[in-house]
Amino acid sequence: SIIVLDFGSQYTQLIARRLREDKIYCEILPYHTSVEDIKVKNPKGIILSGGPSSVYNADAYEVDQGVYSMGIPVLGICYGMQRIAVDFGGSVIRSSHHEYGKAELKLETASPLLADCDDGRIVWMSHSDKVDVLPEGFAPIATSDNSPYAAIANEEKRVYAMQFHPEVQHSEEGYLMLRNFAKNICGVTEKWKMEHFLKEQIKIIREKVGTGKVLCGLSGGVDSSVVAAMLYEAIGDQLIPVFVDNGLLRKGEREQVEEVFKINLKTPLITVDAVDNFLGKLEGISDPEQKRKIIGHTFIEEFEKEAKKHDGIKFLAQGTLYPDVIESISVNGPSEVIKSHHNVGGLPDWMDFELIEPLRELFKDEVRKIGLELGLPESMINRHPFPGPGLAIRIMGDVNVPDLTILREADVILLDELKASGYYAKTWQAFAVLLNVKSVGVMGDNRTYDNTVCVRVVEAVDGMTATFAHLPHDLLERISRRIINEVDGINRVVYDISSKPPATIEWE
Ligand code: XMP
Repeated sequence: SIIVLDFGSQYTQLIARRLREDKIYCEILPYHTSVEDIKVKNPKGIILSGGPSSVYNADAYEVDQGVYSMGIPVLGICYGMQRIAVDFGGSVIRSSHHEYGKAELKLETASPLLADCDDGRIVWMSHSDKVDVLPEGFAPIATSDNSPYAAIANEEKRVYAMQFHPEVQHSEEGYLMLRNFAKNICGVTEKWKMEHFLKEQIKIIREKVGTGKVLCGLSGGVDSSVVAAMLYEAIGDQLIPVFVDNGLLRKGEREQVEEVFKINLKTPLITVDAVDNFLGKLEGISDPEQKRKIIGHTFIEEFEKEAKKHDGIKFLAQGTLYPDVIESISVNGPSEVIKSHHNVGGLPDWMDFELIEPLRELFKDEVRKIGLELGLPESMINRHPFPGPGLAIRIMGDVNVPDLTILREADVILLDELKASGYYAKTWQAFAVLLNVKSVGVMGDNRTYDNTVCVRVVEAVDGMTATFAHLPHDLLERISRRIINEVDGINRVVYDISSKPPATIEWE
């Protein structure tokens, strides 16, 4: 196997999933795991992940120096590279040019790490520190405009490092570099299979639940639907599926969800009308994290109210995915909280439920594959993601009914136009954001002073990185014209042209 030592990067699990795609077995351990504990796993290689801190800080995270003398290859990524540079006697400084996003990789010297890679391909950078002095025995094997040491190697010691993130989907041949490392340099041969995952999780759920009942929060999205289908396979009627209308849904969504589950769910869906509770609690709240926490808590409050109406519900099942976890909490300590996803960082400590989250280590595209294996319809599998906090995090400022109404109308126009033009299926996510920024316009012969809608359409594979969709201008024009003409209170539409990183997909 390959051991990934986690320094808290947002992308650590992506390293694992890239290796899973190549059927390579790997395990993630905290960065401070001792060499003795690593040796027990008998790994063939070590990867040091990225992380948010700086190696020159006094309290910088360190690795057991013994990993460098285990006789197996080591690969450092971003912070992992800077760790290697310092540990082998080089130095790292804060860079005057921060590098976020795309960079073109120029191959300098042949190395087994870059076998079959092409010159000039795009890689994804996200760093503000850089290696200043290379340690002895290391040579650059690739460069970029801003990084003379984009990738370095000590071929004799089989220690490699990259400043960019080969694990993110937007690094074009990154998967190949990780494959080269694991298969060619480390010689890993074990197999990992997705089919085993499903069987194993169903067995784990059955053992955990016994004869108890499980309340499963459903949203109509792919993640919770897959969890419900897995639970039904595992425990049949012990599953109690609950859909909460929180008043933050899109136009017609409640009716659509009820309709879809009537056909596709073998146990009857319970709809809880909690519109007043959610909107009441959100009144006057404009801080994004506060909104997210209130929504997370109110979901649990509603689930607990519902659970009291049934006997023997001890468990709450959720479609939590790895990106929700990594953005919400510090997993092994070192990661930064980016935003509190409602189902992870937004959970209250008074919650009585025990959680069941079978998808916690997976990414959405992996979940979609499981959904297809479970026989869920393609229309459900290919739905765009919609966040649990719903429209609340797409209204800048406090959430109120008039703003929700405006946003719903703008959103449905955007989705209509994308579906009609075929771009819905080609993009990861598309939505409108109500900016609550007023500007002057002229309609007919009258001056207007109205609100602004931002249109956000992004392309992504797993939501960890994303680029704005390059939509045709005539489509953008149609969307803008229809929103301004058809939605009262909007006189301006803008298009979001930021990528993730450094932006995130949602605005809050
Ligand atoms: P960001 O905005 O973090 O979003 O780039 C990545 C993906 O996650 C979705 N998202 C959420 N999903 N609960 C969810 O179920 C949440 O609290 C939440 N916040 C963001 C977002 O829509 C995008 O697909």
